[in-house]
Formats: sequence, structure tokens, C-alpha cells
Amino acid sequence: MNAKKAKKEKAKKEKGDGLIRFTINGQSVQAREGWTVLETARQYGIHIPTLCFHPAVHPIGSCRLCVVETRQNNLTRVVASCITPVSEGVEVLTDSEEVQNVRRWVLEMLLANCPASLQIRELAQECGVTSTHFTVEHPEDACPRCGLCVRACDEVVGVRAISLGNRGVFKEVTAPYHQRSTDCIRCGTCLYVCPTGAMEQLFPQVSSE
Ligand code: SF4
Ligand code: FES
Repeated sequence: MNAKKAKKEKAKKEKGDGLIRFTINGQSVQAREGWTVLETARQYGIHIPTLCFHPAVHPIGSCRLCVVETRQNNLTRVVASCITPVSEGVEVLTDSEEVQNVRRWVLEMLLANCPASLQIRELAQECGVTSTHFTVEHPEDACPRCGLCVRACDEVVGVRAISLGNRGVFKEVTAPYHQRSTDCIRCGTCLYVCPTGAMEQLFPQVSSE
């Protein structure tokens, strides 16, 4: 078989294996159809900070902490890696200047909105963010309304004992009458998945059981 034919055969074979090839920080990686950028990065041990993501529930891309830069067809975008599907040939950068700027901005917002969360302060510190330019309005708040607890209760436990009520700045994790729902089976899944420690503050009666 001549070289040209061999190359063609190789490309054909590669195309047919169902894998998607692209790069993360210049490293060649492969992913399966339907994987996200975050999933692929984790497979290769490439760290991307996250807050509202948990592998057991569907991602919704609410916190934007997991941003990465993608470059393809002369188009550069900054996207949430937990909800961005991989595509053939895309260049992904997890720590570019653009990414660092957006991540810093997200962390400063989180520090201002959730000043009572030790976990968020630690997360910010890991990324070199120790203060915020935004105004702290509720010093006792630790919940960024990421909805992870609500999704876990629904998707993992199948109960829906809690929900995200209200809209905009009034959005909150709530249960009927601010009491533990009678549907709650006290499994503690919401406490377990909560990335900020807020669930213990919101429903202390559950965490103390
Ligand atoms: S209580 Fe925890 S898991 Fe639930 S929305 Fe707030 S931070 Fe997210
Ligand atoms: S972890 Fe991706 S948007 Fe929150």
C-alpha cells in the first residue's frame, strides 16, 4: 500500500472509531461523542475549578467558575466547560489570560455574595483571589443558589423535598413553609453535595440528625 493510501486508510479508521480529537492546553486528547470539555479534562487529570458541577447530576452551568477558552474556525469564546460538548479539532485553554480574568471576576462575585462560606473563600484563595471589589450585602449568606442540592434531591434521590424558589436576587433554596418537607427521607444527599456549607445553615435540623 502506498503512503497516500495508507494515510487515507488511517484517517478513515480514525473517523470510524467514534472518538473526537482535540487539544487541551496543547495536549492531544480524545473524547467520546457527547462528552463535555470538563469531563474530558478530568479524564486526563487536567484541573478546572468547579462549583455547581457534580458528576451524579445534570450540569446546568450556573456558576461559570469552570470557564475555559475555546478556539476554532477563527472564533475564540469563553465558555462553561461543564456544559460545553467537545468538538473535533477545537483548541481548549484552561488557564489563558482571558480565562483567569473571567474566573477572577466569578470568584469576586462569589466572595461578595457568599461571604459566610469558608469553602468559597478557600476556593478563591486557591485561585489567588483573596478580596472582592463587589459590595457585600448579606454577610451571613453562604449560598450562591447553584441548585446542586435541588438537582441531587430530584435526580439522585427522586424526592424533590427542596426547590429553588423566587427569582433574581430573591432566589433561594426552600422547602414548604421553610420547614423540612414531609417528603424528605433524611438521606443527607443535599448536605453531601452542597459545595459551600450553605445547606447546613439553611436546614440545620437536617444536618444535626
Ligand atoms: S445550599 Fe448548597 S447546593 Fe444548595 S444552592 Fe446553596 S450552595 Fe448550592
Ligand atoms: S461548574 Fe460549570 S458552571 Fe458551575
